[in-house]
Formats: sequence, C-alpha cells, structure tokens
Amino acid sequence: MRTTLKLISPLIVSVVVVSLLFAGYQVRTERRVLRNDLSRRDEILGESLQENVEPQFDRPLPDKSLQRLVDRFGQREHLKCVAVYNANGVALAVTSGLASLFQIRPAAAALAAERDTGFGEFLSVNNTPVHVYALPLHSNDQVVGTLALVHDATYIDQQVAHTLRDSLVNALVQTLLVTLLALILVRWTLTGPLARTAKWLRTLRTGQSHAPPSLPQGEVFDQLHHEVTHLARDLNAARATAEEEARLRDTNDSLWTAERLRVSLSSKLQNKPLFVIANREPYMHVRGIGNNGNVQVIVPASGLVTALEPVLLATEGTWIAHGAGSADRETVDAKDHLRVPPDHPKYTLRRVWLSAEEEKGYYEGFANEGIWPLCHIAHTRPIFRPEDWVAYQEVNRRFADAAIEEMESTESPIVLVQDYHFALLPRMIKEARPDARVAIFWHTPWPNPEVFGICPWGRELIDGLLGADLVGFHIQSHCNNFLSTVDRAVEALTEWDRFSVNRQGHVTRVRPFPISVALQENGQPARTMAEESAALCNELGISATVLGVGVDRVDYTKGILERFRGIELFFELYPSYQRRFTFVQLGAPSRTKIERYQTLLDQVASETERINARFQAGHWKPIVFLKRHHSHEEIARFYHAASLCMVTSLHDGMNLVAKEFVASRGDNRGVLILSTFAGAALELTDSLLVNPYDVQQLAGAIHRALNMPVEEQAARMQRMRDSVREHNVYRWAASLLSDLTEIRIDAPERAESAEPLTR
Ligand code: F6P
Repeated sequence: MRTTLKLISPLIVSVVVVSLLFAGYQVRTERRVLRNDLSRRDEILGESLQENVEPQFDRPLPDKSLQRLVDRFGQREHLKCVAVYNANGVALAVTSGLASLFQIRPAAAALAAERDTGFGEFLSVNNTPVHVYALPLHSNDQVVGTLALVHDATYIDQQVAHTLRDSLVNALVQTLLVTLLALILVRWTLTGPLARTAKWLRTLRTGQSHAPPSLPQGEVFDQLHHEVTHLARDLNAARATAEEEARLRDTNDSLWTAERLRVSLSSKLQNKPLFVIANREPYMHVRGIGNNGNVQVIVPASGLVTALEPVLLATEGTWIAHGAGSADRETVDAKDHLRVPPDHPKYTLRRVWLSAEEEKGYYEGFANEGIWPLCHIAHTRPIFRPEDWVAYQEVNRRFADAAIEEMESTESPIVLVQDYHFALLPRMIKEARPDARVAIFWHTPWPNPEVFGICPWGRELIDGLLGADLVGFHIQSHCNNFLSTVDRAVEALTEWDRFSVNRQGHVTRVRPFPISVALQENGQPARTMAEESAALCNELGISATVLGVGVDRVDYTKGILERFRGIELFFELYPSYQRRFTFVQLGAPSRTKIERYQTLLDQVASETERINARFQAGHWKPIVFLKRHHSHEEIARFYHAASLCMVTSLHDGMNLVAKEFVASRGDNRGVLILSTFAGAALELTDSLLVNPYDVQQLAGAIHRALNMPVEEQAARMQRMRDSVREHNVYRWAASLLSDLTEIRIDAPERAESAEPLTR
C-alpha cells in the first residue's frame, strides 16, 4: 500500500492544486460578473432617476416633491438609499434607510460632479458591503447637483461564498475519485502483478510452485514475464538436476543425466568440442506477419532437434545447419556464427546458406522426394531426378567444407553427421581429415536391399556412408537391412558377427542406438488433467469432456488420415462418445513446397471437415485440426490434458512424440496408442499397439484407452516412464559418442580386411 501511495501521491497533489486554482478562478469570475451586473443595473436606474430629478432643479429647492420622488425610488429591492445633493454637496433629499450616513455627499458623488459623468464604487458601510453609484444633475447645461444610489451588495458576497463552497466540495470529490481510480489502476496494472510475481518467486524459491503468474500484457510486463519464466525454468531444472543427482548417488543408480553426460563426454572428448552437422537448425529466426514484422525465434518441429539439443547443451560445440529462416542472415556474425540457445548461449550454431535452386534439388528433391519415401514403407513412390542428384552432391560438398573449416584448429575432432540429407558427408570429411572420428546417425528406417536398389545412385550413397567410422540406426532391424544392402551394393567385407563393414581397409561399425528424450521429474503440474482439458476446450471454443491428442509434422508417413478414419469408426461404433470426446490434431505444416505434402495438408483439412460435418453438434466437434507450428510449451499442455495420445505412423524410424507424451505424464495418467511400425514400439510395449492400416483396431484401441481403469493406466505409464527414464537421450548420446571415441582410427582394425572383396 505504501508503494502504491508513493506512486500516486504526486498525482493527488497535482489534482488538489489544480482543483484549488480552478475554484479560485471560479470565485473571482463569479464576483466580477455579479458586480458588473449590479453596476449596470445601477447605471440604468440612475439614468431613469436622473431624468426625473433634473426638472426639479428648475424650481426653488428644497421641494417636497423631490423628497417624495427619492422615497418612491428608494423602495426598490436591495436599494438602501437614494440621495440628491446640490452643487455644494448639501443633501436636498435622502431616503430614510441610511439617511444619517448620506447627509454628507459620498466621495463617488463628488467625483461624478467633478468629472461630469456617472461614477460607481464598492465600499463597506457599517460592515455592510454596498455599491454607491452617482450621477451629475444638470440644469441649463450646468452641473447643479448630484444623485447617489446606494445598493446593498451583501447578496454578492453570499453568492460568491456559495460558489466557493461548491467548488471546494467539487475539488474534494474529484480528488477522492481520482485517488480511488489511480489506486485501483496502479494496483491492478502494476503493484498487483508485481506482488503476484514476488509471491510466485518466493514459492518457487521454497520449491512449492511451478506455474508463472498471469501478468498484464505490455512491453515491460512481456519482458518481465519472459525473464521470470526463464528464471523459473532454470531454477526448476537446476533443482531437478540436483535432486536427480542426489537420488542417483543415494540409490547408486546408473541413470544418465545431462550432468553425467557432460562429465563423461568432457573426459571422453578430452574437452574437445563436438561438431554436429544436421540439415535442420535448432533455432530459426523468422520475420513473420503475425509478430508485427519483428524477428521471432522458432524451434522447428523436428525429432532430430528434440534429441540433439540436450547433447549440445551438455557438451558445448558447434552445430552446422542450413540457415532456412527468413531472418537468419540478420542474426549471425561475420563468420555466420550465432551463440544459442538465445536465452542462455551454450554452444555455437554455424549457418550454411543455400540458394533456392540448391534447396529445391537437394532438400525437396533428392532428400525428401527421393530418399525419404525410399526409406519409409508408406507407398509413396520415390522420385529420383538426375539434377536433384547433382544438387545433393554439391550441397553435401558445401556442408563438408563448412565442417572442415570449423574444425580446422581441433585435433582429431569428433564429428556427428545427422540423417539422410548427408549420406556423402562422412567420406568427404574423412578424406580431408583422416584424423577425425566420424559417425553418422540415420534417423529414418533403412529399407531392405530390394527397395534400396530402386535408387539409381545407391552405390554412391553407400560409399559415402562407409566413409564413417560408425553408422547408427534406431533399431537392430535397420542395421540388418543396411548390412544386407551393403552386401549387395558395393565391394566390401561385411562382418555380421561384429556388425561392421571393411571397405578398402576402412572399418565402419554399424550399431543400433535407440534415440530418446529427456524425462524431467518436474513434480505435479499446476493444473490437473481435467482442469487443463477444460481450459483448452474453452480456448478452442469447443465443448468436450475428454480429449485425445496427435502431434505430428503433416507427413504421409505419420498415418494421420488413417488415424482420422479410426476416429470416425469409433464414433460410429460407440455413439455415446459423441458430444464428449474430441481429438485434437496438432499438425505442423512440413516440406510444403513438395506437392505430395501440399496435397496431404488439403486432405487432412478436408477429412477433418467431412468427419466433423457428419457428427458435430452444438459446440462439440469430433476433430479439431490445428494446422500450425506449436512451441514445446503449447504441446506440453495438450499432452497433459489428453486422455490418450495417438501415434499411428505407417512407418517411422523411432517417433519421439510417443516418448515425449510418456515423458510428460508425471501424473501417470493417459494412454498411448502406438503404431507397431514405429521404432518406439519395441520399447514402449505398454502402449496399446496397433496396425495403423486396420481401422477397426484403431477404433477399438480408442475405446479401450478411454475405458482403461486408472490403476491400469498408471501401471502401464509407470513402466513406460521407467523405460524412457532409463533409455533417455543422454544415454543415447553417451553410447553413440562413447562407441565413436573408443574407435582406433590410426590403423585398419584387421590387416586381412584391407583387401577389397570382389562380388
Ligand atoms: O525422421 C527424420 C527427421 O530428420 C526427423 O528427425 C525430423 O523430425 C524430421 O525428419 C524433420 O524433417 P524436416 O527437417 O524436413 O522438417
């Protein structure tokens, strides 16, 4: 309250001063107007009396008729006295009221006679305010006397006093109103939110709260909100790490944590930086219309980004990626470097620029119209164009050059190449830096040799990959397919017992490393599942009591249309869920310059409309399709609110949405419906496993999930959480990097393998 008063007291003082000045001005004006009015009235009255009195001077005076005349005039309201004087100032006739006082000619009358004009003045007679107005009297153009009118002016003082009182009351009321309003406003917009923030920080410090307070919008508060939210996140993360470390020490547990990874890698990497090359950057700067044209930072919807960011945070190093954001060039230094994360810079992002043609040929064409459908059994035909292949080779060369430049001053650098965009990179890097340890992690499935044989440049891709010391896949069957493909495609010795390939003396190990996420033990969220679900329904403008969620890039491999058909059948088979259950599909538009992806976006939207038109009623809809990119924080709310999460990929290397959903359910609620064709199905066996092509199985799984007893949900979720906790992203990075750093690279592993095998 003291702060509020301090803030508003200058305002109160100003209001009081202004009100008083205004009251003074009003009083002065009122007095002036009333006096002018009285003077004017006396002038008119005087002139009419003058006309009547002057003829009297033609007769000998004093005369009784003069006394009668002044007595008659003297009876007018407020007129205290009328007096007539001769030229010498001797009273000839005076009305009775103040007769004794006006026997002697007043000064005003003397002045009027002297100046031969009317003259008035305000004075006080016997403590009574009066107005005296005098006029010269003429006879034969000579001033022969004066006429004086004495008017009672008490009413002027009374009226002015009233005005003064009213003005003061007004000033008081105004001051009170302004003070009250200022108090409310300051408390509502300033001190209240600040007090809430302080209280929240206090509860946070004492480990009781997680949800930041709601603050009003505006530049200062936006900044404050941003900073305190980050502070909270850091504090919670630090606390969680400390608790986790303490718990692990206590139980001698061997869980991998960010801290353990950092310590382990700093000794394994001997404090050398890590070099990661991935097409997708972890932070993209875009200048959007939605943000008043300001530059906005976006974390792209990518499982790869989700998995690699914690590794870079734990190890420091450099992430080399395509600068694809519209404002990316504005935010780098002269060497195309940028320290990230923007809020707490920990590692370097090196951006590589591509022309529109390069992006079209390498990314849209060869990588995403060629290799992507080649590696996924989703029945979309791969397209291989010679010009795309040229672009793919050129861009791989460009990234190799950037990586070589970055690692110039690092001895025996550790390099982690990511994904199908860079199959040629391992060999390019190795040729320039034979001392480097190079691994490539392939985030998609690897097809069988027959399918891979479709690619006209399959041999070259395999050759590029075999430049690596280590090739990683999510699961064993992808490793098996890779070895079989190598067997068929190139001349090399494949050693199935050791899962390695020796090509011209260089040994490449092939291993499964199931990628994962970081499971944070954040305790209970601020809202319960039901509260969050109600809040989201309210924001979405729908009425539903139970929510399901799907989170995907809109990609034909994700089985979104199949999922929707399963939902449609579910409502047909179980109509009692109509008006109760709504499925929310968060769909990040992806690779939209490719026609197949555009068509799919349209299909998902029109399927949503078709199914909704069939069932929707009032404010209830069976499906809500949110076609936009969502931040981690936004997605987390849907995960928490959902009774079920559907991952129905037609084919997927791993699928981190499945693991993110499990990681986010600290309340042990919610059911995961998971495609058997996603790599994650091998680990998350407590999900409801489905064949996404089997619509009846999908509908049945939704029904089973919504009817699963809470105890069963908890038991399944707990087991899945245990699995994700143990096989987290730190463990993934630790195994991959530890396998890589343990490789000896100075000599071929087996002398006899140096001989190429001709097939
Ligand atoms: O599955 C391969 C992958 O790189 C994922 O890691 C990631 O989620 C996705 O593709 C990203 O695709 P893009 O970079 O084309 O948006």
